[in-house]
Amino acid sequence: MSEQPGSTRRDFLKTTTAAAVGTGLTGWAVLPGAHAQGSDEIRIGLIGAGGRGTGAVTDVFKGHQTGVKLVAVGDMFGDRLEESVKRLSGQYAAQVSVSPEHRFTGFDAYQKVLAVPEVNYVILATPPGFRPLHLEAAINAGKHIFTEKPLAVDGPGIRNVLALAEQATAKKLSIVGGTQRRHQHGYIETMKRVHDGAIGDVVAMRAYWNQGFLWKRDRQPQWSDMEWQLRNWLYFTWLSGDHIVEQHIHNIDVINWAKRGHPVKAVGMGGRQVRTGQDYGHIFDHFAIDYEYGDGSHSMSMCRQIDGCANSVSEALVGSKGTCQADKYEITGASAWKGDKDPISPYVQEHIDLIATIRAGNTVNELAQVAESTLTAIMGRMTAYSGKAVTWDEALNSNESLTPASLTLGPTPLPPVPMPGQGTV
Ligand SMILES: NC(=O)c1ccc[n+]([C@@H]2O[C@H](COP(=O)([O-])OP(=O)(O)OC[C@H]3O[C@@H](n4cnc5c(N)ncnc54)[C@H](O)[C@@H]3O)[C@@H](O)[C@H]2O)c1
Repeated sequence: MSEQPGSTRRDFLKTTTAAAVGTGLTGWAVLPGAHAQGSDEIRIGLIGAGGRGTGAVTDVFKGHQTGVKLVAVGDMFGDRLEESVKRLSGQYAAQVSVSPEHRFTGFDAYQKVLAVPEVNYVILATPPGFRPLHLEAAINAGKHIFTEKPLAVDGPGIRNVLALAEQATAKKLSIVGGTQRRHQHGYIETMKRVHDGAIGDVVAMRAYWNQGFLWKRDRQPQWSDMEWQLRNWLYFTWLSGDHIVEQHIHNIDVINWAKRGHPVKAVGMGGRQVRTGQDYGHIFDHFAIDYEYGDGSHSMSMCRQIDGCANSVSEALVGSKGTCQADKYEITGASAWKGDKDPISPYVQEHIDLIATIRAGNTVNELAQVAESTLTAIMGRMTAYSGKAVTWDEALNSNESLTPASLTLGPTPLPPVPMPGQGTV
């Protein structure tokens, strides 16, 4: 399969690569803060101690019985932080050493975690709206990073992340980006075959994340608007990017991976048909997007979070010589093939890959790759919200910043539900 004509991917990715780049330094030397301790110990600072952040720390521990430690935790809220530390200490007592002085809460908790000198491996797992800010601070502090996806919620955030990708490369920092299918054995084997031509040219694609209800946290009387939004972040576009960005990014990323590029245009629709109450914020509950790639091929992409409907979390490719059901590791046609069950969880593998790279004195930087898939999802949201066709360049150069003017635990206006056809992109 060749690079798409007219693709801007080469420029987009020119500064970073998922391939490891040798630094010539030893593993000891590239671990910031490691010299002082005289070891290659990984000392984790967790920022965002919710379900995934806590899970990511356990994934590091599952992949490494020794040489890894949790030393600092930051979260907006004390109850989330303590719950996480309690769970982790209960399960991994020998690897958790978070003194009361290394537990931080509030909007500036991330800065305090990053200021702990022994931290050399940061896990960023807050709601996505904070990701560019936290990435910038972590890169400035010279830390290696595991960041959850998505990497931003709007065009300005993506542009910031792309600039940060270059800075991280210059500083020889390693960053893995939470699109765990890229570290999943079956997907890797499948994509290798697709890229080697097993199904010929990829001429049509389908990506789905259709599921039922996800989660919601009921508003408590003592919560300010901001606290309610932060605790219920999925339902606010400035925090989650909407579920097409927050969740469907995984399938969108697989299609970009198969095509070795991003779409050039999107036309789509969506709405909010079941989750209509204010307790569901202002996001949509379904999207259907037609993404057009530079070679003229299209991806039918849809996501839904509504109970009682047909569900599917999958990616399919139609080629000129066969087909591929990527999520099933299955290829049909002359080069028919079926992959085996994964030997290890991709959530564990992504940390094994990152830590092995750091210790080998090499670097990996997935920021631009994940930013590309994040922007693809943002472009889908923009076309559905506006009802207009949206090009890649319009999404990338958009000046619409979703972050509220003031980040304090007080009144925070609820933006209206987007109405297609009533505004501009
Ligand atoms: N890769 C995957 O498969 C996968 C799965 C689930 C979630 N995620 C991602 O992980 C991230 C977190 O999701 P989650 O399910 O853990 O949500 P969560 O609500 O359980 O956790 C988020 C935590 O961040 C804290 N927080 C909010 N704002 C903060 C701030 N400014 N500073 C510090 N802490 C802050 C919250 O208090 C909460 O404890 C999201 O980006 C989500 O998309 C990825």
